[in-house]
This record gives sequence, C-alpha cells and structure tokens, in this order.
Amino acid sequence: MGGDRAQPGAMILGVGGNLPARVVTNQDLTQWMETSDAWIVERTGIRARRWISEDTGASELAVPAVKQALERASARLEDVECIIFATLSPDHHFPGSGCFLQQHLGLPGIPALDVRNQCSGFLYGLSIADAWIRLGQYRRVLLVGAEIHSTGLDLSTAGRDVTCLFGDGAGALLLGPSEAGRGVLATRLHADGRYAKSLWIEAPNSRAVPARLTHAMLDEGKHFTRMNGRHVFTMAVSRMPEVIHEALSASGHELSELALFVPHQANQRITEAVAAQLGLPEEKVFSNIETIGNTTAASIPLALRDAEDQGRLKRGDLVVLASFGAGFTWAASVVRW
Ligand SMILES: CC(C)(COP(=O)(O)OP(=O)(O)OC[C@H]1O[C@@H](n2cnc3c(N)ncnc32)[C@H](O)[C@@H]1OP(=O)(O)O)[C@@H](O)C(=O)NCCC(=O)NCCS
Repeated sequence: MGGDRAQPGAMILGVGGNLPARVVTNQDLTQWMETSDAWIVERTGIRARRWISEDTGASELAVPAVKQALERASARLEDVECIIFATLSPDHHFPGSGCFLQQHLGLPGIPALDVRNQCSGFLYGLSIADAWIRLGQYRRVLLVGAEIHSTGLDLSTAGRDVTCLFGDGAGALLLGPSEAGRGVLATRLHADGRYAKSLWIEAPNSRAVPARLTHAMLDEGKHFTRMNGRHVFTMAVSRMPEVIHEALSASGHELSELALFVPHQANQRITEAVAAQLGLPEEKVFSNIETIGNTTAASIPLALRDAEDQGRLKRGDLVVLASFGAGFTWAASVVRW
C-alpha cells in the first residue's frame, strides 16, 4: 500500500455531473461586451459555457449530479452519511449550500459541511472525505462541487477578462472505504493568502462599516469578481507542477506511471503549460473546458464524469487531479481509479 494511508482511505464509488441547458457562446458575449470568439479561443480555449436561465441555487444544480453519482455507485440516497459541499457561489451567504442540498435530497440529520476554497475547494473537500473515511467516522461521503457564476459576472467590457472564463455547473462523487489499493493515495494542499486580492470579490463584506453592501459598492462594481489574470496565470503554471510532484512522491508513484492527468479546468493555456512542464503527451491530459468553461469547484468532478463517459478512465488507472485558484489555493491528489 502506497501513500498516506494508515487505514484504507476514500475510493470513488460513483461520479456525476449536471449542467444548465442554456449554452452561451463566445459570439453571444459580444452582444454585451467588446470581445471576439477568436480572442477568447486563443487565450483560453473556451468556445461556450452554460448559464442558468431561471432562479437556481448551486444546491439545486447539484441535485441531478448527486443522483447520477449515486446511480453509478449503485447506491441509495439513504446510504449517504454526510455531505461536503465545495462552492464559492453559495445559494446564500449563510447557511451553507450543503444544508440546502441536504434539504433538497431529504436527508435531515446528517452533517453538511461547506468548503470555501474556490477552484481548489473540490480537492480540499476530497482530502476531508478521505480523512473521515480513513478515521472510520463515515463510510459513505457525498462530495459536491457546484457553482452559479453567471449571476455574478460583469457583462460590460470592464469585466470581459473574467466573464469569458466562467460557467455554471455541478459535479459530485460518492466516496467509500478503499478496496484493493484503489482510491485516494495521497493529497497535498496549499494556500498563500498574500495574494488573496489577486482574484476576489470585494463586496458584500462584513468588515465594511456601516454596511456590508452599499449603493456605492454596487455603483463601483465591487460585487463582481476581479482578477489579475497575469498573476493567476504565472502562479498557476509554477505551483501546479510543484504540488503534483509533491503528491506523487507522497503516494510512492512516478509520473511515468500516470494514465491520466485531470486538472481543474481553469484555462486551456494553463493546462497546456502545466502538461508541457510535466512532459505529458496530449493523450494523457483531460480537457473539457472548450464547451463548459471554468466551473471552479465543479470542474474536476465534471471532468472525471466526462473522462469516464469517454472511456478514458479504467479501473486501476493511476490518475492525478490538480487545481489552482483564488486564495491563492492549490492542491493535487493521486488516485488509483
Ligand atoms: C485572463 C487572460 C486570458 C487575459 O489574457 P492576457 O493575455 O493576460 O491579457 P491581459 O489581461 O494582459 O489583457 C490584454 C488585453 O486584452 C483585453 N481583454 C481581456 N479580456 C478580453 C476579452 N475577453 N476579449 C477581448 N479582450 C480582452 C484586456 O482588456 C487588455 O486590453 P488592453 O491592452 O487594451 O488593456 C489571462 O491573463 C489568463 O488566462 N489568466 C489566467 C486566468 C485564469 O485562469 N483564471 C481562473 C483561475 S481559476
């Protein structure tokens, strides 16, 4: 047995995903902002993303993803012992989206934890799920990543750098104790709050006196995501290869054994730069950003679902998951599929 496990850790029993039906192409964005399909495709690899078209919380978008994960795991809803919900766009400021999801699923009483680690939220959540299962605290953990970005995007030209990237989506895993050496072998997590404001939303904020949301804040667009794109890019392409090597080394495995690299789908250029640094050929790198954009905490489970559907994940494959995002936070997990 390689990796960090004193006791068997978490194995992925089933994966699911859900996207809103509304497709928003790069051409569609040109009705609101000065941009072009060519610019967005060249800089990001994104051609379209999905946005909700009516009031829907991240917790509601997650429900079909959860049902698909349970179905693929041949599990029943009643088997779920706890919920971990990763999101940067919770339904409401509080309580957490995990509580709302629990209500939609009809599972009163089980614990529901929200994880607020942006693009790395899903891997932070995976690490918690793995630890709980390893401790024997829970045997069936529902891990969800879900985002509604579309209602928080600046559709004017001032927001075009951010708006062209993000889409809505939800993904879910059902996790249980590992069997036959499968599952999470090692995870490494990092954060560096010195750069918290390189990718953030300033308002509403509870530190502002006299009020956390004012007309002035709205007029200044402080409720929209702001990003220093170049800073994010340069940090992502250096931190992701580092944490991947770190997690691989903790797992006792080598890059040459890797069957598939499934990165957080931040931006196709970041994925390609990281893969190039690792020396990975295209066929070992998974990407689905072209049609769904960056879905933050949902992107890794959605990528796993699509990779499984495309026959690119086979039982026993060594898989590396990695992320980088706001905080800054970054993480990698080595998984035996
Ligand atoms: C956002 C990103 C694509 C911008 O590309 P870039 O080459 O760094 O571009 P810059 O930010 O330097 O901007 C260059 C110009 O393009 C413009 N631009 C930005 N977004 C644009 C868009 N969607 N369409 C057209 N032009 C755009 C800028 O306004 C700027 O114009 P200016 O020179 O007149 O000021 C790039 O920085 C990036 O990919 N960063 C990583 C972001 C990321 O992955 N975030 C998610 C992390 S989870």
